[in-house]
Amino acid sequence: MSAPGWPVRLAHAGVEVRPLRARDGAAWSEVRTRNERWLAPWEGRPPSQRPSSWAARNSPAVFAAMLRTQRREARAGRMLPFGITVDGRLRGAITVAGVTRGAYDGAHVGYWVDAAVAGRGVVPTALALVLDHAFGPVGLHRVEANVRPENAASLRVVRKLGFVEEGLLRRYLFIDEAWRDHLSFALLAEDAPGGVLRRLLDRPA
Ligand SMILES: CC(C)(COP(=O)(O)OP(=O)(O)OC[C@H]1O[C@@H](n2cnc3c(N)ncnc32)[C@H](O)[C@@H]1OP(=O)(O)O)[C@@H](O)C(=O)NCCC(=O)NCCS
Repeated sequence: MSAPGWPVRLAHAGVEVRPLRARDGAAWSEVRTRNERWLAPWEGRPPSQRPSSWAARNSPAVFAAMLRTQRREARAGRMLPFGITVDGRLRGAITVAGVTRGAYDGAHVGYWVDAAVAGRGVVPTALALVLDHAFGPVGLHRVEANVRPENAASLRVVRKLGFVEEGLLRRYLFIDEAWRDHLSFALLAEDAPGGVLRRLLDRPA
């Protein structure tokens, strides 16, 4: 089975988004392990799952299992799971998940990047590339991003991209041993008629 718009590679100014591949396992595990303190406050886990160490949750073996799931979901058109590279090196990921067709034609997006390249607009560029693809060849109408109110950096990202705040999701994800509220943002296909990347690049400095 093939899904609209998948697989694909998209790039701008040294930032590329592309499907993860088996040989990314070592790099993925290295960057995730090194960034525990940077990533852990924002990532959830199923509350029914026994707590395990960050290293165990980010081993090459876990990557291999994640990749199998992602490939199956992507082929079925339910997910677009991208790695983010900067100048050819794996630095993060951006995942459009929960793709639901029909009258909704929507999905939600999540992202992270290596702290070593944070603050350089890597995720805004990657997200703009992914959104233009999602609203174009994939044919989505709505992409949602849900962000903890405490996550100032991620709030900056969605606001730079022109996402509109739509409400509060009470106790939305189980993160750091508790259910955490999230602010819900969405961007619609008609919100950036000239393209999301174009609009990002044209923002006043
Ligand atoms: C949120 C995140 C993806 C942003 O990615 P990014 O590529 O750094 O995005 P930007 O370059 O646009 O920076 C966003 C904001 O981070 C802050 N920032 C800037 N430099 C920074 C640095 N060196 N370290 C940390 N934060 C920095 C600034 O507030 C910046 O906003 P500004 O451009 O208006 O100054 C990244 O901070 C991250 O991976 N955080 C941990 C995981 C996470 O929160 N994921 C999202 C869950 S909803």
